[in-house]
Amino acid sequence: MEFSVKSGSPEKQRSACIVVGVFEPRRLSAIAEQLDEISEGYISNLLRRGDLEGKSGQMLLLHQVPNILSERVLLVGCGKERELDERQYRQIISKTINTLNETGSMEAVCFLSELHVKGRDTYWKVRQAIEATQDCLYSFNSLKTRKEEPRRPLRKIVFNVPTRRELPIGERAINHGLAVSKGIETCKNVANMPPNICNPVYLAEQAKLLENNYEKVTTTIVDEQEMEELGMGSYLAVGRGSANESIMSIIKYSGGSDDLANPIVLVGKGVTFDSGGISLKPSPAMDEMKYDMGGAAGVLGTMHALAELGLPINVIGVLAGCENMPGGNAYRPGDILTTMSGQTVEVLNTDAEGRLVLCDALTYVERFEPEAVIDIATLTGACVIALGKHASGLLSTHNPLAHELMNASDQSGDRAWRLPLWDEYQDQLDSPFADFTNLGGKGAGTITAACFLSRFTKKYHWAHLDIAGTAWRSGGKDKGSTGRPVSMMTQFLLNRSGQEQGE
Ligand code: BES
Ligand code: MN
Ligand code: ZN
Repeated sequence: MEFSVKSGSPEKQRSACIVVGVFEPRRLSAIAEQLDEISEGYISNLLRRGDLEGKSGQMLLLHQVPNILSERVLLVGCGKERELDERQYRQIISKTINTLNETGSMEAVCFLSELHVKGRDTYWKVRQAIEATQDCLYSFNSLKTRKEEPRRPLRKIVFNVPTRRELPIGERAINHGLAVSKGIETCKNVANMPPNICNPVYLAEQAKLLENNYEKVTTTIVDEQEMEELGMGSYLAVGRGSANESIMSIIKYSGGSDDLANPIVLVGKGVTFDSGGISLKPSPAMDEMKYDMGGAAGVLGTMHALAELGLPINVIGVLAGCENMPGGNAYRPGDILTTMSGQTVEVLNTDAEGRLVLCDALTYVERFEPEAVIDIATLTGACVIALGKHASGLLSTHNPLAHELMNASDQSGDRAWRLPLWDEYQDQLDSPFADFTNLGGKGAGTITAACFLSRFTKKYHWAHLDIAGTAWRSGGKDKGSTGRPVSMMTQFLLNRSGQEQGE
């Protein structure tokens, strides 16, 4: 898909389709007004006859509008003008793209980027439009032998901005939007890949692809033998029931002018299938536990976006790959594991495996002397109960870092919500036999999981993102990876490197 920005008036466009907004009730946007004048009231006439109310998401495709050079005009309902917010804007863009894609316009000039969205500027509107477009054109069909593709797909879209002065801002928004979208696509592709293909080796291969494509990226792996030498008893225990070897992939991006500058480290939970192990999960929807590597996919996608943007910072991504399976060799409830940190853990449920994998990865990354560490994980079903599918859970022991992440989530529209990490919750991990257990018991499952992790993150600034509810959509036709939280995490890195938007 090709994107560009332009600053021009609608009647001068010679395009397959021009896209303009209509508000409720039957009120033309400024741009639609211009078209109406040129066409001698053609559009307002239609509205008067009741063809379009202007409700959010309504579409009316017109052909051969008098005196208009473009072949088609797509009128898009935008709801009440004063109520147009971020969510509605994104929905309107997605609907528009689907309509264009299905109705044979291979290119379009879109004026929706000129609509007023409360508190948002041109940069935001263009970037969101790019991300929304790429998101709704995505499909995972590499394993289908018969692919359905539209006969005349949308190929090129021009977003209009109000003034020429804003063209550089629009172009910057396109660059950022495209880089983020690439990262999101990478995230979706690996996350959607079935677990018989996407195992820890596969994750390592995907990391290697980044190294091959970007000069500033290098990768290494830590295999089971090395984990053994490092004393990663907890990580190794989780993978022991699986025929697939556990592999931790390390992706190093050196973009900072100072190669020694302390890196930001992202650690992703990469459980390529979570059967629950001996504490076996119930069968319904167990297939969805192929998405238990969504954290690793998010880290990989973020590293891809980062490399594409070429940001001047140092970042290390860790994909903590392994598979949680039952078997004669599997770890069991009651086992006491010695973690790389030396702390011992009593396993009360082999399905609380994510924290056991992450804790050793979090100890491992101390060697990078990180500026900050953020782990990303489909960690708890409890997070889905608490926040549903709309917000990722954010927990942190460092307030400034938490605030930075919340800002990034607000700017990107890839939302997170902070949950407390008070000491009071720590007691729920008490064990009679080991330093602590891997199970927090009744209540606050997301918080107690983070409490567990916090015991391994004392040496640096740390935040944890629980994406159990946001990483994929369940069931039905719509099922699939969402690509979250690539947008939020890339925004965080953009902010960190002082490239948020303006200049
Ligand atoms: N990967 C799951 C969490 C999960 C479950 C994410 C459902 C998304 C949807 C994790 O490994 C897990 O099984 N967690 C348990 C923890 C419990 C045993 C303390 C859970 O949430 O039930
Ligand atoms: Mn589990
Ligand atoms: Zn899991």
